Amino acid sequence: MMELSNGTYTLQGIDVTSLCQEFGTPVYVYDGQKIIDQLKSLKNAFSGTDVRIMFAAKALTNISVLKLLKKHGSGADVVSINEARLALRAGFTPDQITFTPNCVDFAEIVEGVDLGMNINLDNLSVLEKFGQKYGDRYPCGVRLNPHIMAGGNYKISTGHINSKFGISVYQLPQIMEVAQQYRIVINGLHIHTGSEITETDVFLKMAEILFSIARDFPALKFIDFGGGFKVAYKEGDLVTNVYDLGLKLGKAFKEFYQSYGKKLELWIEPGKYLVSEAGYLLVKTNVVKTTPSITFAGVNSGLNHLLRPMMYDAYHEIVNVSNPHGPQKIYTVVGNICETDTLGADRKLNEVREGDFLAIKNTGAYGYSMASQYNSRFRPAEVLILDGKAKQIRERDTWEDLLRGQIEVEI
Ligand code: LLP
Repeated sequence: MMELSNGTYTLQGIDVTSLCQEFGTPVYVYDGQKIIDQLKSLKNAFSGTDVRIMFAAKALTNISVLKLLKKHGSGADVVSINEARLALRAGFTPDQITFTPNCVDFAEIVEGVDLGMNINLDNLSVLEKFGQKYGDRYPCGVRLNPHIMAGGNYKISTGHINSKFGISVYQLPQIMEVAQQYRIVINGLHIHTGSEITETDVFLKMAEILFSIARDFPALKFIDFGGGFKVAYKEGDLVTNVYDLGLKLGKAFKEFYQSYGKKLELWIEPGKYLVSEAGYLLVKTNVVKTTPSITFAGVNSGLNHLLRPMMYDAYHEIVNVSNPHGPQKIYTVVGNICETDTLGADRKLNEVREGDFLAIKNTGAYGYSMASQYNSRFRPAEVLILDGKAKQIRERDTWEDLLRGQIEVEI
């Protein structure tokens, strides 16, 4: 994690400003050790249970990061066939991958079966097609919608009644009907109610709903509780207490499978929990602009590289790594994109001078993976720090990337 020692911000002992100089800015830097530590803490939290941790790859799809997670015992949760291919490329075996697509073409599900992955289906018509094609020859899981409103923001809440995700728990009779008609082997139940859920009780409520349903499915192998564990974005932020969760959910789970009559695996699919805090978006201040009301620090990045503040009103702490002891002043940090792209409003920062490097924290999850080339700007490079060494794991886009795929016709 980034530390301030002897007047210098460092990551695993490396001066953060020297990373900016070596790799250029903007750049996403990931602290590999933090990723390993988060994985370990989750394993410890669920130590009494037969847990499988499936990293939600959508949070950060860099192959080197996937490899790191695989090396330390994680599986992968994917939502598209391309994420699945990236996971396979990173070395995950098909049985270590769980594919939970939503509203995809059935052909993508067939590809998933051809690749041999675990699959969770989230629509009755898809379940029916699956049954027609595979009968009892390929087991599948079912993603349920428990009708619980939870999550840090409406846009990232997925388990409520108006959400497009999952098959409604009220449609259980139809699930059973389709399953029986085609002799589908349902080997898992899946729920993901949203991102940034702080209360253990929400997960326990979810579990209660699942357990009450699960008895009707005799061929279960796993129950997948999804992801959604919250980390702190600022001091004093509420977080998911994974130890409390692991203990209570683990206990409820054990009680359930004892009465079910067979030991089951408990799966979870954390994205943010594993990689969010490990990531830093390092940017350079292009201009300091003082208006009659606000002092802006305008940086060489923006919503094209970090969408979360504008998309979800997400708070990301910002630090001036070039001037750790400068007097503190209030700034609004904005990007260089041609629309409002505030990265942080009214922040107390050590005096920002043009050319200063700023670190935007907690950007490992849904940072690079949601980055775009909007305004025809290049997406940043990515760097992974492991064992005190910084390695570049993705090139910054180039002019060729902007042209790739464009077809210039005679006009
Ligand atoms: N499993 C499923 C089926 C999911 O849909 C998601 C996230 C996860 C696991 C992982 O959730 P996490 O542990 O990361 O909260 N772009 C948004 C978050 C979207 C989450 C979508 N699904 C953001 O930046 O806040």
